[in-house]
Amino acid sequence: MASSPVSKADFIVVANRLPVDLERLDDGTERWKRSPGGLVSALEPFLRSRSGAWVGWPGVPDVEVEPFEDTGVHLHPVPLSAKEVADYYEGFSNGTLWPLYHDVVAPPVYHRHWWEAYVRVNRRFADATAEAAAPGATVWIQDYQLQLVPAMLRERRPDVRIGFFLHIPFPPVELFQQLPWRTEIIRGLLGADLVGFHRPGGAQNFLWLARRLLGLEPSRGAVGVRTRPGVVPNGDRMVRVGAFPISIDSAGLDALAHDPDVQKRSQEIRNELGNPKKIMLGVDRLDYTKGIDVRLHALGEMLAEGRIDPEDVIMVQLATPSRERVEHYQQMRDDIEGLVGRINGQFGKIGHPAVHYLHQSVDRKELVAYFCAADVMVVTPVRDGMNLVCKEYVATRHDLGGALVLSEFAGAAAELTSAFLVNPHDLDGVKNALQAALDVDPAEGRRRMRALRRQVLTHDVDRWARSFLEALGAQETHNA
Ligand code: ADP
Ligand code: G6P
Repeated sequence: MASSPVSKADFIVVANRLPVDLERLDDGTERWKRSPGGLVSALEPFLRSRSGAWVGWPGVPDVEVEPFEDTGVHLHPVPLSAKEVADYYEGFSNGTLWPLYHDVVAPPVYHRHWWEAYVRVNRRFADATAEAAAPGATVWIQDYQLQLVPAMLRERRPDVRIGFFLHIPFPPVELFQQLPWRTEIIRGLLGADLVGFHRPGGAQNFLWLARRLLGLEPSRGAVGVRTRPGVVPNGDRMVRVGAFPISIDSAGLDALAHDPDVQKRSQEIRNELGNPKKIMLGVDRLDYTKGIDVRLHALGEMLAEGRIDPEDVIMVQLATPSRERVEHYQQMRDDIEGLVGRINGQFGKIGHPAVHYLHQSVDRKELVAYFCAADVMVVTPVRDGMNLVCKEYVATRHDLGGALVLSEFAGAAAELTSAFLVNPHDLDGVKNALQAALDVDPAEGRRRMRALRRQVLTHDVDRWARSFLEALGAQETHNA
């Protein structure tokens, strides 16, 4: 990574995090590592394939880092103080907006000083972006942490084209209206030329709120997927509002799954696990929206009822550490680890636990090896904007093996209809779906996987980005 002179960019991604996180090691040295989460997984390969800049926080408080270049992308770090991390990031972003937008599955907390920090930090991102953008540039702002940036940036730089994409669900209007600063958020988003959501329902909710809260006159027709965007006349501008389901670097993952080293590692994983008949796998950030508890409860009951034998079926749960200073997350970690302990205590044997739980992030190749080793991929969020893990699993199964159990409450369920779809609130339904996936007839399994792969390989992240940028009117200018 080389530090580079600050040059103005024609295409800029703005996100809370840079694609790499600064990590301070115990010996006092520092290194950059890939940032967690689906936003970075999706956007990083896309941006690397074109020349562009990325404005974001380097992931640790109180550091000032000069702009630098990383594999062809110009990174512009935005500093946050420890107090801002507590109030803007852990507080308003992840203690207020995250639970509110995920159907209040945990109670959102409303603190005025968190909101004030959110406004202040959004202003800093808008300033940094205004500074980095070339005349007439395209700026693509990402996610719930930065919803005020579109309007703030427009004030500073009316010459730039502004897109905004929300990576998490946009909630039902009754829930959104709990937010004391609801009008400010809608006004902030309307600073964009195009506001994008994963699903038409989110776009529809936003249009309704623009009418109700700001007295605007949005279009009334149904928004389609990548088609028929809604329109909000806002002063002398038209803001478009559409649905653009995000995806993954499908070809890249497919290629990685063909790598002989990965296949070898996959076999090793099976051996290390004692060659059980069936391996079930969960891969998530350790987040209360992901329904990790749901699958553990289902597994525990199935073992207790003798529906599965711990000699034959084991579960592996990889859980990336996430937002560890936020209270909801601390509580949930205790709950999950307690559940794992109880299941292993009851059904495990020395050297043969029923659940292998790793509170760790693994590298890309290792992750693909796990996907290739897994007979049943279990994705049971109680709410998820899209969920990329399920698409990644499908992209790696060129052998047409494996089965996907997927929550109806993940955005991906609308596309991956050949999965074993489940309602995560219905424990018996989850158990039945796990059983069906474990017992699926091989020909039926291959038929399902073929259909899933057709969807994922033809709808990759590049198509997502192109469809958004075309709707923004920016594609022809900024194609690689
Ligand atoms: P979210 O963005 O809410 O974390 P997604 O499913 O959309 O959920 O994206 C998660 C991303 O993080 C995926 O690319 C997934 O492969 C990656 N990931 C999740 N858990 C792990 C883990 N334990 N090790 C490595 N990568 C992980
Ligand atoms: C989700 C969010 C992203 C976020 C990621 C990781 O994907 O949509 O905006 O970056 O989770 O969470 P973190 O809080 O660690 O950035």
